[in-house]
Amino acid sequence: MARQRLPVKEKRPIRDPVWEQWVKNLKGALPKRALSEEIRGVNALSKWLTSDRSKRPFDYMNNRRAQESYLRYFWPRQSYLVHSLAKRIDQESLILQQLQHQSQQSGVPPNILDVGAGPLSASVALMKLFRDGANFHAIDRSLSMMEMARRNLKTLPWYQGRDIHSFELQKSDFRRFRTQKRFDIIVFGHVLNEALERETINTLSRFLVQYLRLLKPGGLLLITEPATRGASQSLSKLRDLIVDDDFCDAIGMAPQIISPCPKRVQICPYLDTFNGWCFQTFPWGKIAPLSKLREGLGFDDTLLKVSHLALRRAHANEKSVDGVLIDDQSERKRIEGDNTSSVVARIVSGKMHVRSKVHRYLCSDEGAFDFELADPHHALAKAPRGAGITIHEWETL
Ligand SMILES: C[S@@+](CC[C@H](N)C(=O)[O-])C[C@H]1O[C@@H](n2cnc3c(N)ncnc32)[C@H](O)[C@@H]1O
Repeated sequence: MARQRLPVKEKRPIRDPVWEQWVKNLKGALPKRALSEEIRGVNALSKWLTSDRSKRPFDYMNNRRAQESYLRYFWPRQSYLVHSLAKRIDQESLILQQLQHQSQQSGVPPNILDVGAGPLSASVALMKLFRDGANFHAIDRSLSMMEMARRNLKTLPWYQGRDIHSFELQKSDFRRFRTQKRFDIIVFGHVLNEALERETINTLSRFLVQYLRLLKPGGLLLITEPATRGASQSLSKLRDLIVDDDFCDAIGMAPQIISPCPKRVQICPYLDTFNGWCFQTFPWGKIAPLSKLREGLGFDDTLLKVSHLALRRAHANEKSVDGVLIDDQSERKRIEGDNTSSVVARIVSGKMHVRSKVHRYLCSDEGAFDFELADPHHALAKAPRGAGITIHEWETL
């Protein structure tokens, strides 16, 4: 196998000065707490967020202590995660740049809907990416958390009045939300697993169709979920349902899968073949004002993990089958390699050692398979979980 540079795009950041500044500003804006109290609060909330749902109070985000802990620690962490994920998706597909370009051309700022917004983590992440500003609409069944976060938006180093053309907060259960607005981006950040307390995957798929209908043609629906086996596999089941031909015929639209699935994968191989689940990792650098708090937590948070699904609403004249856009021109561009959306395989496992050889699972058109690296120092061995491999790189493997 030829030696070749593979997409190790994300280097581990040693420090992240912008996030560091934000956390510093935020610390100044929140009530003073002893370090031990901060640690206790974050650990308790982390237990709620990761424990059996039946043990978590229904409206846990209305709890004052939980709100404060979320703002201190999970808000910057979640925003960093969504920001990194959105950047990776954009590097591969250019979808955000296309939306930004469309909005510059039309002079109409993009409309963004943050569903189950909590402290506006996803809005904040997108605010950093859409520097020309956007209209935000955020909904959650608990309004008070969003209001608390809204008051603290000015702690963001990248916050400027002009970044936000409008910001509407609304108390609403996403299952009952109705609007006349149409959106360029809709984000569900770590919300669906909470809805599974009460809903089946089939019912959730019907709710998601309603949100696909709220997208403008070409718009993006981004769903993030915790990287747990249960939440990730539920998301893969939802994905399989949504791109199923009969389902698409029934709803009269065929959404295109932007990420994480590389191309035409009808049934997620992780549900079919492997006893695992598909998630991505992003390194979270050193954030000095959080260092002591992070050291005191009972878990290692240097590697952030997330499962996700990014769907694009096709234009009326575009056709897609099994979640893949069938379009001669984009297919040609993809093959010529002048379009960055040429991801043909995704790394869907960590680095595995099998009898002194390094292995990684790759997911491609042919499904997922185990790939043995002849050279253990090959860039593929070091690439982050979730990185995409392009045609050029694929050909040299
Ligand atoms: C884990 S928090 C995530 C918050 C935020 N999106 C983030 O990524 O930081 C989940 C949020 O979903 C909200 N939520 C759960 N079920 C909901 C529903 N049916 N309708 C609206 N919001 C809901 C909760 O109130 C909570 O704020």
